[in-house]
Amino acid sequence: MDWLAQLLDLPQRFRSTGTGGGVIQDSASSATLVATLAALHRASGGRWRDVGVDRRYRAYTSAHGHSSIEKAARIAGLGTDGVRSIAVDPATQALLPDALRAAIQADLAAGDVPAIVVATIGTTSTTAVDPLPEIGAICAEYGIWLHVDAAYAGAAAVCPELRWSHAGLEYADSYCFDPHKWLLTGFDCDAFWVADRVELIEALTVLPEFLRNAASDSGAVIDYRDWQVPLGRRFRALKLWFVLRWYGVEGLRAHIRSGVALAARFADRVRSDDRFELAAAHPFSLVCFRLRADDDANADLLARVNGTGRAHLTHTRVDGRYTLRLAVGSPQTVERHVDETWALLAGTADDLLT
Ligand SMILES: Cc1ncc(COP(=O)(O)O)c(C=O)c1O
Repeated sequence: MDWLAQLLDLPQRFRSTGTGGGVIQDSASSATLVATLAALHRASGGRWRDVGVDRRYRAYTSAHGHSSIEKAARIAGLGTDGVRSIAVDPATQALLPDALRAAIQADLAAGDVPAIVVATIGTTSTTAVDPLPEIGAICAEYGIWLHVDAAYAGAAAVCPELRWSHAGLEYADSYCFDPHKWLLTGFDCDAFWVADRVELIEALTVLPEFLRNAASDSGAVIDYRDWQVPLGRRFRALKLWFVLRWYGVEGLRAHIRSGVALAARFADRVRSDDRFELAAAHPFSLVCFRLRADDDANADLLARVNGTGRAHLTHTRVDGRYTLRLAVGSPQTVERHVDETWALLAGTADDLLT
């Protein structure tokens, strides 16, 4: 995990050579749950482990935060309404720091305890990047745990020119990304780091007599059972190790750069056709776009294109409007596929609009 942190140029605080460290989880959802539990431990002054959720603790994420954040809050006992959905900037779909501050202040005034903010680098819907420097400063001011969910876009940090997306990460208490999403690793594999491993272990450790052993007692080993929900662990590191060894740093960079370039190529096609428009920025390898027509026409376009079996696009809503999404992720995808998909979309639009 230190090796991977070095590859992504993550802040020093996440390295095991200092107070931090990383662990491989199955999924980003598990990473968010573990971060939530550690955050509750901190917010309750270390009492969460013993008394559970004894007050109204709150989690915060943008309106585009992943559903796993609400799920983690529910599992942790915060209830569905424990998550405050913070408004986004309509131009960027990124969390609005002023709205976050207002929500925290309102909860404090009501006697609730702000426990965790989950910021996203690369939201699921549009790959928006939340403003970490501003969010981090707010979390530092109020002593709130900041977890950064970079499930998909974290892989981009292998490329120095894309590391702008991780600016402000030095504020984070925990961070995760999924090598199984955009870094060529077989499902499942989530890389999760914390800045203070002691805090995490304190939150999760349970030590019955049957788990006591000399290696643990002497501190000679790291017991990753205290860094995750399950006791036992799969050996996920091996497949990740093979990916790193097989592709190497430059191979991984080439993969990410190819995805970004193919997305940009597709976006150029969209821009050059007056019948279409881009619905969001495309900093990574996902392009959000739509026909300049109503939602039904866009839904029809998606259904017809997917119905051919030649391409598979997904959809979301941006500013309430039905939006198509083209994602490039496979190392097999080349210019020809993107061009064919565009031709398919443009041809289907001809049929639809005439
Ligand atoms: C931003 C973000 N967070 C979390 C997840 C959940 O990932 P996982 O399946 O690893 O739990 C996703 C999946 O799409 C995601 O895009």
